[in-house]
Amino acid sequence: MNGLRFNPLQISDGLTLENRLVVPPMASQTADTLGLVTEKTLEHYSRLAESGAGLVMVEYSFVALSGRSEPNQLGAHHDDCLPGLSAIATRLHQAGTKAGLQLTHCGGKGSYDIAIDLMGPSGIKVPAYDRDLEQPRPMDMQDIQYWKDSFINAAIRAEKAGFDLVEIHCAHGYGINQWLSPLTNQRDDEYGGCLKNRSRLLLEIVAGISIHAPSLSIMTRIPGQDLYPEGLTQNDMKQVAQWLVDAGVSILDISSGIGGWNRPKSRRGEGYLVEESKALQGHTHVPVIGVGGIQGADYIEQALENNWLDLAAVGRAILQDPAQFKDTHMSS
Ligand SMILES: Cc1cc2nc3c(=O)[nH]c(=O)nc-3n(C[C@H](O)[C@H](O)[C@H](O)COP(=O)(O)O)c2cc1C
Repeated sequence: MNGLRFNPLQISDGLTLENRLVVPPMASQTADTLGLVTEKTLEHYSRLAESGAGLVMVEYSFVALSGRSEPNQLGAHHDDCLPGLSAIATRLHQAGTKAGLQLTHCGGKGSYDIAIDLMGPSGIKVPAYDRDLEQPRPMDMQDIQYWKDSFINAAIRAEKAGFDLVEIHCAHGYGINQWLSPLTNQRDDEYGGCLKNRSRLLLEIVAGISIHAPSLSIMTRIPGQDLYPEGLTQNDMKQVAQWLVDAGVSILDISSGIGGWNRPKSRRGEGYLVEESKALQGHTHVPVIGVGGIQGADYIEQALENNWLDLAAVGRAILQDPAQFKDTHMSS
């Protein structure tokens, strides 16, 4: 086999990815209304593994009921979720890929019908490209502690379920993005104000997961920048990335920020967000994932060759037909 995309990548002593293709987290809406895995969920992930990717990420899974943003969203909030999560990890491993679980709290990016209790760092409406969100309530110290415990407990479940890594969702305007961004975090305590304070909750979550789920690798999906006026800048995120790596993160997954994951109007073509991973590639010692409209082998080879990314995430092109993607792009 020729091609940089077939080179394995060692993440830690216990974790090596077999190649440079990643299936990014994509909500499948296949959980039941309690957030539990169904047969459809298992079939969905078996199908995604047919892509030949070295890592398949399981969609954003809420860590607490207050963090749920969609009715059939997967949950990681309760021990009842364990059997289903274990079944997904087993299916992915049987298919020969590594398994990651993305953890999220929607914060203010949800609706009162589903989350019941919408909250955010400062009670500021989350700006979004595609909708007008409801006003969340501001969070107090008890809420902060609850989020921290919820993320750590969900990671412990992921470890028990047999996942190789967890990803904390800090992008696309969801809860942790709201803490990082100056647009939504205007607190004047130690969790708000300067960038270090706005990163504090995230860094405490990472540190807690490292201690309580030590066999898991930790990945963070962060914005390369908020891509919103007055939001997080590329320089801010370079600093946050360094703090994350110092705290124990071993892969940085670079996407978009507060407005959502859709292609920003100003970005065109294949790899429309790869400029963002490029800014962080080589900035720390850990690998970066790039994403955004990537279609196949030619682009992935070019991006690896030019060090725009270390791992390429391909979402919709794989979702369409994973086996076909493998035949066309991942076999020699
Ligand atoms: C149906 C669908 C669901 C998605 N759900 C998530 C999600 O759960 N978590 C996340 O971080 N991104 C999510 N995304 C964004 C993708 O992970 C990816 O960043 C985006 O689709 C761009 O990559 P692509 O152009 O290769 O599809 C979703 C995208 C799609 C199409």
